[in-house]
Amino acid sequence: MGYRETYERWQDDPESFWLELAEDIDWVEPPKQALFDRGNDTYEWYADAKLNGCYNTIDRHVENGRADQVAIIHDSPITGTKSHVTFREMRDRIAALAGVLKAQGLAKGDRVVIYMPMIPEAIEAMLACARIGAVHSVVFGGFAANELSVRINDCKPKAILAASCGLEPGRVVAYKPLIDGAIELATHKPDFCVILQREQQPCTLTEGRDLDWYEAREGVAPADCVPVEGNHPAYILYTSGTTGAPKGVVRHTAGHLVALYWSMKNVYDVEPGEVFWAASDVGWVVGHSYICYAPLVHGNTTVVFEGKPIGTPDAGTFWRIIEEHDVRSFFTAPTAIRAVKRDDPTGEERKKYDLSRLRALYLAGERADPDTILWAQDVLGVPVYDHWWQTESGWPMVANPAGLERLPVKIGSPTVAMPGYDIRVLDEAGQEKPRGQLGAIAVRLPLPPGTLPTLWNAPERFHKSYLATFPGYYETGDAGMIDEDGYIYIMARTDDVINVAGHRLSTGAMEEVLAGHPDVAECAVIGASDPLKGQTPVGFLCLSKGVDRPHEEIVAECVQRVRDQIGPVAAFKKAVVVDRLPKTRSGKILRATMVKLADGEDFKLPATIDDPAILDEISVALGEVGLGKKAAS
Ligand code: COA
Ligand code: AMP
Repeated sequence: MGYRETYERWQDDPESFWLELAEDIDWVEPPKQALFDRGNDTYEWYADAKLNGCYNTIDRHVENGRADQVAIIHDSPITGTKSHVTFREMRDRIAALAGVLKAQGLAKGDRVVIYMPMIPEAIEAMLACARIGAVHSVVFGGFAANELSVRINDCKPKAILAASCGLEPGRVVAYKPLIDGAIELATHKPDFCVILQREQQPCTLTEGRDLDWYEAREGVAPADCVPVEGNHPAYILYTSGTTGAPKGVVRHTAGHLVALYWSMKNVYDVEPGEVFWAASDVGWVVGHSYICYAPLVHGNTTVVFEGKPIGTPDAGTFWRIIEEHDVRSFFTAPTAIRAVKRDDPTGEERKKYDLSRLRALYLAGERADPDTILWAQDVLGVPVYDHWWQTESGWPMVANPAGLERLPVKIGSPTVAMPGYDIRVLDEAGQEKPRGQLGAIAVRLPLPPGTLPTLWNAPERFHKSYLATFPGYYETGDAGMIDEDGYIYIMARTDDVINVAGHRLSTGAMEEVLAGHPDVAECAVIGASDPLKGQTPVGFLCLSKGVDRPHEEIVAECVQRVRDQIGPVAAFKKAVVVDRLPKTRSGKILRATMVKLADGEDFKLPATIDDPAILDEISVALGEVGLGKKAAS
């Protein structure tokens, strides 16, 4: 069956389509019904069934002949180490850690925050939670203590699982002070922490609160898999919204395993037993889905990579890993390929490696620009597939279903809607736009299994953020169009979310931090185009009356403030002091116009602008930090 037939099979009878795909998963009690309509435009999947996420990703493979197959390859060019963990070893390690959590009183439904670098223990931690039905919330290591505390307050974890440090090139990131700081800031306090001591920088454990990852196992019985309902939350993953408060995307257990299993063969074109590599981080959705759950549920070997595309040690790292570990399907962000291309434009590093067994490169997380796709295709000699999805969907919404049928690639389009997604382009009134015309991208409800059923602790926000604008649809927050052949094009966000190096960030959150500076009266943050990272945040600061300190000092403090409060991942390095911000007569800041100015692009003067002269002032200020017309020419 090809793509069209599969998509139509789903359209004709979604219930039996999803029940049939559910057969790829092992159930304690199989589902009799796929979709559950909970009213008020909310839906759940496989709610009548019982299963366990860890059993499906690990134990069943041990029982079905894959015990000695490698489950995880850890490759860390930063530490110069490599290791392999089999499914059997993984099961035993996870059961031991789950035993510790259980012995400490953790039970089904309790939340656990995980703050770990890219090491196998991060996967061990996620699946130990799944084993006992605890709900994990992984926080990316590049977030600061304040962001960690916001998440602790929201999901109220009983435990934190963490490593003593993370490793960035040339820098050890001590996690313990961040964890201590976050717990101090948070109003909710976890009962205990389990800390993995890394030799690069061990830490002092806090008595009465912290347990050592390995010592805590002594004398503790390993834990068995606890059956959970299909709609039991597997995890909460916080993602950026328009405001400073992150959204806790909830993922239910059964739906995501079913959908992820399907995607491994049909999208990523791998057979069980083969090596699949997503070069992302467990702190992002790509890491949850395609480093941890999807490859493992499908019986693939997954690569946990602790390094960067360049500089660890060179632009050949990706290609070395692909050859050395026999990676058949590789997934990364366009930024990473741009970084490699910048360092090695003629692909000299790539020539050192045999990549003949690699089938394809998959790109997602941000817009894949045609230059990057063409370069990668040329250098690698394999198809390069752009595909589009988001934290909320958990798996690709639009992709080239290469394992089902290799559709012709149209550069600039991530290709077509995956089964389960009825994607439409709407105008502001919610009417469908004709083919080829730009509009808001929305998905007709219900969303398929694996997608978010709600936001943690915030059902009203879930409705307001995603369901209210276009009744009957999920609003993706992206704008784009569909062409005559049904190919979908993603052009831009419709909100204040920006994408910096494949990382989703909120300009609103940065504005909240800047506004907290005592000398800042008003501010705005925009995403200016960046040749490497796609976008880069730029702050505009209007100072309070009477402030006469040097502007460089205030800018430096603001940069430090964002780093301290959001984290280095915000990559907030540029800000300018201006007298006023350009606004409409009704007082709305003209952010889109400021983006055009920063990018040095021509634009039409907004009819509603209050005082066009401000734009000249903004241009001058941008010129001072190397942005705007001059920089572009
Ligand atoms: N822990 C602590 N700090 C982190 C971190 C982590 N896990 N990840 C990133 N940071 C820090 C970096 O060290 C950097 O700090 P600095 O300001 O002191 O230099 C800052 O956050 C910004 O990081 P990043 O945006 O990654 O920029 P970079 O200049 O270090 O690297 C790239 C540039 C292109 C090599 C890098 O962004 C990259 O590999 N991008 C791919 C992203 C990706 O895979 N995304 C997954 C989504 S699919
Ligand atoms: P995240 O939730 O962090 O995965 O970010 C999701 C957002 O990244 C999407 O809503 C898009 O704005 C953007 N994005 C992801 N993949 C693509 C893609 N292939 N093309 C364009 N934008 C993308």
